[in-house]
Amino acid sequence: MTEPGSLIEQIEALEAEANEALAGAATAADVEAARVRFIGRKEGRLTAIMRGLGALSAEQRPAVGEAANRARERITVALEQAAGRVAGPQPGSGGPDLTLPGRSPWRGARHPVTEVIDEICRVLAGLGFTRARGPEAETDWYNFVALNTPLDHPAADMHDTFYLTPDVLLRSHTSPVQIRTMQRHRPPIRIVAPGMCYRRDPFDASHAPAFEQLEGLAVDEGITFVDLRATLARFARGLFGPQTRVRFRPSFFPFTEPSAEVDVSCVVCGGSGCSTCKGTGWVEIMGAGMVDPAVFDNLGYDAERYTGFAFGMGPARIALMRYGIPDIRLLYESDVRFLEQITGP
Ligand code: DAH
Repeated sequence: MTEPGSLIEQIEALEAEANEALAGAATAADVEAARVRFIGRKEGRLTAIMRGLGALSAEQRPAVGEAANRARERITVALEQAAGRVAGPQPGSGGPDLTLPGRSPWRGARHPVTEVIDEICRVLAGLGFTRARGPEAETDWYNFVALNTPLDHPAADMHDTFYLTPDVLLRSHTSPVQIRTMQRHRPPIRIVAPGMCYRRDPFDASHAPAFEQLEGLAVDEGITFVDLRATLARFARGLFGPQTRVRFRPSFFPFTEPSAEVDVSCVVCGGSGCSTCKGTGWVEIMGAGMVDPAVFDNLGYDAERYTGFAFGMGPARIALMRYGIPDIRLLYESDVRFLEQITGP
């Protein structure tokens, strides 16, 4: 007669075999074959052992019976799991719905400020300006002195700028690219120089401590204020549309003389007055002026022979106006949902 110990071992071996068969099952038919083979009512091997329980002695029966029942329960659970696995996810089963249309992958987009910079450069390229660049860490000579701004000028103050060493700072404007360009090239010069600038400004709705600026410079024989005005009028119409008007207001910059603040008719209301232009119909977009002869002197240029004009603007401010964004900080937060609204996915 069979030892109860060896019967329990047989049950364990059967269960292991059933698990192995189910692990290898690839189709519903495989799972069903395993069910029939192990716990099928007629031919199941575990069923056969259970049927033989009656022949065991009263002492042996409970232990073997219990082992057989447990094995049957576990095999039943394993069968259900295998059946679910080979069937794959079903609609409404909580698994992925393979009938849904695909999600297109995020491809990235250009930042709105980059868009504006590229567009400005494109319009100016049509007027003969080529792109130039300069370092973001500058000596105070390039950032201030060569631009006719003495170091005791308030703009050169430690409170307004980020000094890295006693005479090197993060540039506070792109105007030093004017100097570097005039050192490297002889006139005629026509450059546009976009890039990051840094100031110790509070990060608020209209200021960022790190921001883009875009510098323009034209130097040649015979350049006059008329060229400046005509260039900027063409530029404004190219960037904001053909109806755009331009207005110059007298101003002061150490490196230009005369200097002006340049306004364009409000792109939102066309000049009738709205919240973007604060009811004035005009929006200031840049500073500009004729290159101060003192700057030419600093570079050894003959100020009797050469004249030129320069301008500087903040592309982020232009992006705020163009897209109707109320707070500059939104442009410098990496919230893709915000950027997506402007540039599209
Ligand atoms: N560099 C000036 C600033 O940061 C902007 C500027 C004004 C640039 C007039 C110019 C200019 O080239 O002519 O405020």
